[in-house]
Amino acid sequence: MCRRSLSALLCSFFLTHYSAEAFPTEKSFNARSQAKQLDAVATSIEPAYTYLLLGGTGHIGTAVAHHLLIRQPQSILHLVGRNAATGQCVLLDLKAQHPHAQIEFHAVVDIWKAQELQRMLELFSVDCVIHTAGPYAHRTPLPLTGCRVYVDVADPLPYLEQALLRKGGNTTALVAAGAFPGMSNVLGVEAVAQLDPQRTIQSLRFQYFTAGLGGSGPVNLFITNVGFGDPMTQYDGGVLRFFMELSGRLLGKVDFFLPQVPEHLQKANDRVRERVGTKQVFAWPFPEAATVPTILKDATDSFRWRRIDSSAAMGTAPDVWNTMLGVLVQLIPRAWWRKERFSHFLADFSQPLVSATDAWLKWKDPFANGETHAMRIDATLDDQSGISIVQAHDSFRQCVAQSCAEFAMDCLEYPDPGTVSLPEQRYADPVARQRIIEKLTTTPGTFCYTGPVSLQRIDGPTQLQEALEKAKQTER
Ligand SMILES: NC(=O)c1ccc[n+]([C@@H]2O[C@H](COP(=O)([O-])OP(=O)(O)OC[C@H]3O[C@@H](n4cnc5c(N)ncnc54)[C@H](OP(=O)(O)O)[C@@H]3O)[C@@H](O)[C@H]2O)c1
Repeated sequence: MCRRSLSALLCSFFLTHYSAEAFPTEKSFNARSQAKQLDAVATSIEPAYTYLLLGGTGHIGTAVAHHLLIRQPQSILHLVGRNAATGQCVLLDLKAQHPHAQIEFHAVVDIWKAQELQRMLELFSVDCVIHTAGPYAHRTPLPLTGCRVYVDVADPLPYLEQALLRKGGNTTALVAAGAFPGMSNVLGVEAVAQLDPQRTIQSLRFQYFTAGLGGSGPVNLFITNVGFGDPMTQYDGGVLRFFMELSGRLLGKVDFFLPQVPEHLQKANDRVRERVGTKQVFAWPFPEAATVPTILKDATDSFRWRRIDSSAAMGTAPDVWNTMLGVLVQLIPRAWWRKERFSHFLADFSQPLVSATDAWLKWKDPFANGETHAMRIDATLDDQSGISIVQAHDSFRQCVAQSCAEFAMDCLEYPDPGTVSLPEQRYADPVARQRIIEKLTTTPGTFCYTGPVSLQRIDGPTQLQEALEKAKQTER
């Protein structure tokens, strides 16, 4: 992947699809869905969409199913996974929670084989495909045919680049539609939109915290390891650059609460200060550090972006994990992390310890399941003043799933056929953005959402500059 390809691709996509008349504002259902609605329980005005959930038996997939059934009880769900025994357990569990739900399980050999998907799309009349059967790295994105909406929670940049090149047909497709990336990208756009439009933008920073694995599957441990073999792709002085030596490096501490907030936000800010507080973070190659500034730079006055720096970082609890990962990244060559066999081995090796710490977090966390998640997005001007947004949730797993389900429902309600987009593209329009932010930040379990707050001074992670300088020296 070259620097120019990302910029050119995202730019041309944006200009092609998101001109002034983008973002239809009226609900438009096709005849099939309208018929389904009429067939549905007469007393309900909820739409009855049919969803195909690829990875629907996984940690995120089951939570997607649960949220869809809460929001649209008439939904028809087809859950897809490989393991039949897991599928039956998930089915029983969901039916116990939603006794009237219409859910089925289908076992497949490998969902990445396009013909498997095609077969299912032909069998069931599907409105929406939701794909949470990661990991996505080194995979070819599935073709977009036979459904009105396609949504996934992918995060590797090369995969997203390929995914955006697909032809949408009649499908409205949204990629990277989880919590981070996903909700975070939309909040990044929102933070920038609140800055003084006459001034130069200095930085856009994405910072995340997840307790343990946050309730997501062990596969996410593997994904984190593999990520240490990928370069950080981020803006430095207005230029999109790759910093191999930065990935996985400790960046110091971040406050996942704000120093001052308006009175009505005080309680929420106190809650996140108490439950998350200040955490150590490390650099991790989330795509949004590259995609969000690229999209915004090309769509708005690019002169304002001439000095932009961006970054993405995450931290976990207990803190010893951050330190341990930081040490391992220093000791183990990058080429090893990139090898799937090595990253799998390390994930499997550390799994018992991770499970033990997750159980400890669960026991220790009186508020939630030890799955607490928080994100802080900062957009600054050249005098270090700017806009910060903090969002926090009881469970990372649920937050990812709820976001994914909300994005999917929004695409069904406000389709834009023939487009394949990232959240920062689809929700560039302020009306569409406010609509989705409202949905994403009022989900059950959300315990803090500050919205954009104007601050006199915003600092990035405490040792970010030092780590960045070191990476620059190594890669000079
Ligand atoms: N954007 C975000 O915010 C975000 C956050 C966290 C995670 N994620 C993504 O979410 C993905 C899922 O995480 P998770 O915790 O739910 O993982 P998980 O519990 O392991 O679930 C994965 C699901 O996908 C299915 N699956 C995997 N490979 C498959 C294949 N080749 N063919 C058919 N089914 C397959 C699994 O079925 P079997 O169990 O039957 O094999 C399972 O149902 C991760 O890979 C990650 O990329 C995104």
